[in-house]
Amino acid sequence: MNEIGRASASLAALAPRIKDAWYVIAMSHEVTGTPIVRALYGVPITVFRRPDGSAAALLDRCPHRNVPLSGGKVVEGDLQCPYHGWRFAADGRCTAIPGLDGPADHPARRATAYPVREQQGFVWVWGEPDKEPVGEPFRFRLADDPAYLTVRREVRTRGSVHAVVENALDVPHTAFLHGGLFREDRKDRRPIRCVIQRHQDRVECEFIGESRPTGLAGRILSPSGGMVTHFDRFFLPSITEVEYRIGDENHIVLNGACTPVDDWDTRLYAVVCIRTRLPRWLVRLAVQPLAMHIFGQDAVVLKQQADALHSFGEASYASTDIDLLGPHILRLMTRAARGEPVDPNAPPYVRETTLLV
Ligand code: FES
Ligand SMILES: [Fe+2]
Repeated sequence: MNEIGRASASLAALAPRIKDAWYVIAMSHEVTGTPIVRALYGVPITVFRRPDGSAAALLDRCPHRNVPLSGGKVVEGDLQCPYHGWRFAADGRCTAIPGLDGPADHPARRATAYPVREQQGFVWVWGEPDKEPVGEPFRFRLADDPAYLTVRREVRTRGSVHAVVENALDVPHTAFLHGGLFREDRKDRRPIRCVIQRHQDRVECEFIGESRPTGLAGRILSPSGGMVTHFDRFFLPSITEVEYRIGDENHIVLNGACTPVDDWDTRLYAVVCIRTRLPRWLVRLAVQPLAMHIFGQDAVVLKQQADALHSFGEASYASTDIDLLGPHILRLMTRAARGEPVDPNAPPYVRETTLLV
């Protein structure tokens, strides 16, 4: 699609599949000795915790007769299928076949295993099973900092990863869809500068000259106002970051790690790190419900968008200069899905535009 102007696209073009990447598959507290099922690009994966505390992820299909392994249980650290009792280690090796006179392990009897990492309250899997991962999962840079209150939440939305990510980083809709909560649809809008830098693996927009958002959330977080620094960022494959500094004391970094359950169903794992003068109980009391309300409004409109795209069978998108990041993100995702090599140090594409807020 062109970045600016009008363009049609197939639904598949709006949902590029990036398999060689880390995705959050579950929150740490959800992963226990009882297996659960999660999906990535429509493929069911069972996730469980072994007695040594490590998390493991296997394709939810027993290699014997294809019964879901998630119906089984963890026995001596391995996952036992509920049908004939075959057992599988975290790396997929078959470790026991009840009744078989001979060794259980054989290449044809292996379960499909996903590389797993667990950090900062999330379990991540590499999108291609049985493959050596490249790099490590995204780190939420303030989530371990005791000066910050960190809140983790999951929001599930009907919508492609691209649509969810674009929404999370889209400024113009906030005055409308969330009117009054964060920004307001005012007549006396003022221009701010938006500087976009697109690298090969990320894109960022810096907003210059913005005053404190006038809505309820801004007033709660920074009653006295103050200078605002604001960045919106996207990192491949599917991570969003909104960073605000308001005055000297208020710093908020809101990350969203998006996982494609399938092409049109996305789980967004939100990590919000807040440092403010307000007591933590007050932030929890006031800001959390507000944030969840805002996420809920977004989820409704994203579902409407996805339903409309499906009923028309294609997209016909008219974009302007103030669709700041969405078109750039689609471009990065499309290239990554094609497996094009990424040079994070290549000079960025830079563009500046004006937005009235
Ligand atoms: S189907 Fe799993 S052990 Fe037979
Ligand atoms: Fe929104």
